Amino acid sequence: MCGIIGIIGTESVAPRMVDALKRLEYRGYDSAGVATLEDGKLDRRRAEGKLVNLEKVLASNPLGGTIGIGHTRWATHGAPTENNAHPHFVGGVAVVHNGIIENFAALRSELRAKGITFHSETDTETVAALISTLIAEGADPVAAMREAVKRFEGAYAIAVMVEGEGGMLLAARHGPPLAIGHGNGEMFLGSDSVALAPFTDRITYLEDGDWAVVTADTATIYDGSGAAVTRLETRSQVMASAVDRGNHRHFMEKEIYEQPEAISRTMSRYIDFAELKSKPIDGSIDFSAIDRLTMSACGTAFYAGVVGKYWFERYARLPVEIDIASEFRYREMPLGPRDAAMFISQSGETADTLASLRYCKDNGLPIGAVVNVQESTIAREANAIFPTLAGIEVGVASTKAFTAQLTVLASLSIIAGRQRGTIDDAREAELCQALVEIPGLMTKALNEIQPQIEKLAQELSHYKHVLYLGRGTSFPLAMEGALKLKEISYIHAEGYAAGELKHGPIALIDEKMPVIVIAPYDAVFAKTVSNMQEVAARGGRIILITDAEGAAAADMETMATLVVPKVPEIAAPIVYSAPIQLLAYHTAVFMGTDVDQPRNLAKSVTVE
Ligand code: F6R
Repeated sequence: MCGIIGIIGTESVAPRMVDALKRLEYRGYDSAGVATLEDGKLDRRRAEGKLVNLEKVLASNPLGGTIGIGHTRWATHGAPTENNAHPHFVGGVAVVHNGIIENFAALRSELRAKGITFHSETDTETVAALISTLIAEGADPVAAMREAVKRFEGAYAIAVMVEGEGGMLLAARHGPPLAIGHGNGEMFLGSDSVALAPFTDRITYLEDGDWAVVTADTATIYDGSGAAVTRLETRSQVMASAVDRGNHRHFMEKEIYEQPEAISRTMSRYIDFAELKSKPIDGSIDFSAIDRLTMSACGTAFYAGVVGKYWFERYARLPVEIDIASEFRYREMPLGPRDAAMFISQSGETADTLASLRYCKDNGLPIGAVVNVQESTIAREANAIFPTLAGIEVGVASTKAFTAQLTVLASLSIIAGRQRGTIDDAREAELCQALVEIPGLMTKALNEIQPQIEKLAQELSHYKHVLYLGRGTSFPLAMEGALKLKEISYIHAEGYAAGELKHGPIALIDEKMPVIVIAPYDAVFAKTVSNMQEVAARGGRIILITDAEGAAAADMETMATLVVPKVPEIAAPIVYSAPIQLLAYHTAVFMGTDVDQPRNLAKSVTVE
C-alpha cells in the first residue's frame, strides 16, 4: 500500500525523502508528497501521479528544512488527486498515513462539531485533525499522540510532525509496518528497511499498538497501554544497491532473469545438493503429527499454494485445504487438533493473509509461513518461518517470489513425505535430483524461448481476451499466467482447468480468443490434447507451451508452439513459469503499459 518516510537530522531532508520514496514507490504510486518544518513552519509539496511529478514540483519550488515526512500513495479513501495526497495538514499538525482509519466518519463528525473544516476526502485528515484538536485543548504533542492512538480503529502506520516542534517526529503502528532507522545524529522512519537502506542498516520495528517519539538522537517507544517499552534493534541485510534495475528495461524483466539464482539460493536452505537429501527444518511444524494442512494466501501466492497442494497430497499423502485469504478469514472453518496452517506471502504484510494466520493461531494451530521478507509481521507471528530467498522484488507483478515460493513448497512436500514415511531414501534422492536440476533448466528455458516469445507477444497484444488452460499442477499455473497477463497488459484473461472447458467456458471460443495451453508431456498430456481438439474444432487458436515430446505427440496446428526443455514432473510448474511470465512481460511492453507499476495496483496490500 502506501509508503512512509520521515527524517530528522541536520541536512536538507526533502531530496533525501524523495530518494527514499523512490524505493517505496512500489507500495503505491498514484500521488506523492513531502512536508518539512523550516524555521518552525510547516510547508509541503504534493503532486498527483508518479513521483517524477513531485520531483518536478520540487525542482521549480524547492523545500528547505532538516526535519520532514513524506508519502507515496495508493488511494483508499478519495481519488488520487493532489488535494487528497499526503501529507495532510490540520491546525499545525502534518500527517502521512498508510492503512485505513475505519472509524474516520465518526471522528470526522465529532471534529466538525468542534469547528474543524476538512479539505480532503481522506481518512488521514481526521488523524491530523484529532491530534491538533487535542493540542488546541491543552495537551502537549506527545500527550496528544498518546490520546489520539487510543481513538483510532483499523489498520494504520502514521508519521506526524508538529509546527514549532522541530526536534521531534511522532509515529504509530497498528497493522501496516513501520520501522525506525538509527543514524548518527539523525533518525529515520520508514515503511520498510528498503526505504532506509541508503541511510542506515540499524533498524527497530514498531510492534502492533506501539507509538514512538523520535528525536535526532533517540527513539522512545510506548506500547498501547502507554508504558515505555524496549524493542530490539536489528541489522538490516538490505543493501542500498539491491533496488537497481541494472541493464534491464524493467524490474520485472530483471526479476524474471534472476529466477535461476533465486531458486537455487532458496533451495539450498532446504535441500542438501551433494547428498540429494532434504535438510532438517524448524521443528515447530511436524508433518507426521498432523492429518491436514490448511493453506491460505492471496493472488499469485495463492496460486503457489494451489501447486503446493498437489505436491503435498501426491508426495506426502497429506490432505491440504487451500483458500483465498480474504475468504478464509471470515469462513469460520472448523479446525482440529491435528491440523497445521501454512501462509504464503511475499511481503509478509498482506492484511487478509495476516488475519487468516491470526484466526488459525487463536484456534491453537501450529503456524508455518512461507515469506520473502523475514522481518515482516507474518514472519514474526508464525511459529515456523520457511523463507524464500528471492531478494527484494520490486516489480509489482510477482515473478521470482512466485517461483521461490514454489521451490519452498516443493522442498517441504519432500520433507513432509520423509516425516510421514511416504518417501523412502531412493525416492527422496530422485525428487531432490529433479529439484537440483531446476535452476539450469530455468536458465535454458529463459534463453531458448525469449526470441519466439517476443514475436508471439506482438501478435497477442492485438487480442482483447485470452484463455489459459492446464491440468494438474499446470492448472494453477494457467490461473497465474492469466493473472500476470491481465495485471500488466490489461488484456482480459482467465485460467481454467482444461477438463472444465466443456462445462461452460467453451462457449467463449472463437478465432478472436487465443487459448494458451500449458501442457508438459506428462501423465495427463493426452487428456489435455483432447481438450485442445475441442478448442480447434470450434475455430479456436491455440498457443501450446510444452516440451519437444509434447509438441510431437500433440501433432496439431497451432498459432504457436513454445518448446520448453524436458523437465521432471515436480519441476514443471517452476520451469513453465518462465514462458508465461515472459509472454505477459513482452505483451505488456508491446502495449506500452507501465510494466513495473501497473495501474490501480500496489505491491504490498495492507488493507482488506
Ligand atoms: C500478482 C501479485 C499479487 C500478490 C498478492 C499477495 O502478481 O503479486 O497477486 O501475490 O497481492 O501478496 P503477498 O505475497 O505479498 O502476500
